Amino acid sequence: MKYYVINSSPRKNYNTSQLLDKVTEGITDALKDKTENVEIERVNLYDLNYTGCRSCFLCKQKDGPFYGTCPVNDDIKDIIADMTSCDGIIFGSPVYFADINGMIRSFIERLCFPQFPYADIDISKKRMPTGIIYDMNIKEDNPSMPFYNSVFDFLEENFIGRVFTKPYSLKVNNTYQFDDYSKYVNEWFDEEDKRLQRETQFPKDLEKAYEMGVKIANDSMNK
Ligand SMILES: Cc1cc2nc3c(=O)[nH]c(=O)nc-3n(C[C@H](O)[C@H](O)[C@H](O)COP(=O)(O)O)c2cc1C
Repeated sequence: MKYYVINSSPRKNYNTSQLLDKVTEGITDALKDKTENVEIERVNLYDLNYTGCRSCFLCKQKDGPFYGTCPVNDDIKDIIADMTSCDGIIFGSPVYFADINGMIRSFIERLCFPQFPYADIDISKKRMPTGIIYDMNIKEDNPSMPFYNSVFDFLEENFIGRVFTKPYSLKVNNTYQFDDYSKYVNEWFDEEDKRLQRETQFPKDLEKAYEMGVKIANDSMNK
């Protein structure tokens, strides 16, 4: 059983990474007594050189050699090819400018577009369970949150969902951004409030990430 955990935070020990560690733990624990053959591959997107879709459309060329696949040869070529037959995928993204960040957007274009036909046909190679975690600065009750949610829902329903399966979705709000707020220009966010969130809510978010891992592992075994 092979799972991909895609990290699009440049910071390898911060919020997104910690949440993805918990997903990994959940998958590992859930499969402990079920199978010994488990591989969980963590991909840190900021370590890789690649671009988004180049609009060559070779993936859609009738009877072409690349139909349904991406011909672009860079650091993610083999990863996205292997992912189409894996048993589960979890994406983790910090929210930048009210959306998933640029690195993961480019990655998802390359991963999903080849299996996204301009026709009412299904050319997906496999429909494995998926999950996505977004972590962001704004609070859950921020008036912009419904807009953010509509952006996330659209991605989940129409792109990831159309090509693989609709992902389990976890939104983590009011994240702790810096280790020492006094060092940065910041009039908008109250460090005390952030610290409280970190101590009371973030552990619950980590637990939800763990549960997501368990669900994805169980779904993949029941397929
Ligand atoms: C370039 C940039 C843009 C950001 N834009 C938003 C935003 O639009 N909304 C938001 O809530 N947080 C925004 N943030 C905050 C991050 O989403 C938040 O700090 C996140 O928890 C970072 O994840 P990490 O700790 O895993 O790196 C932004 C951060 C950066 C660096």
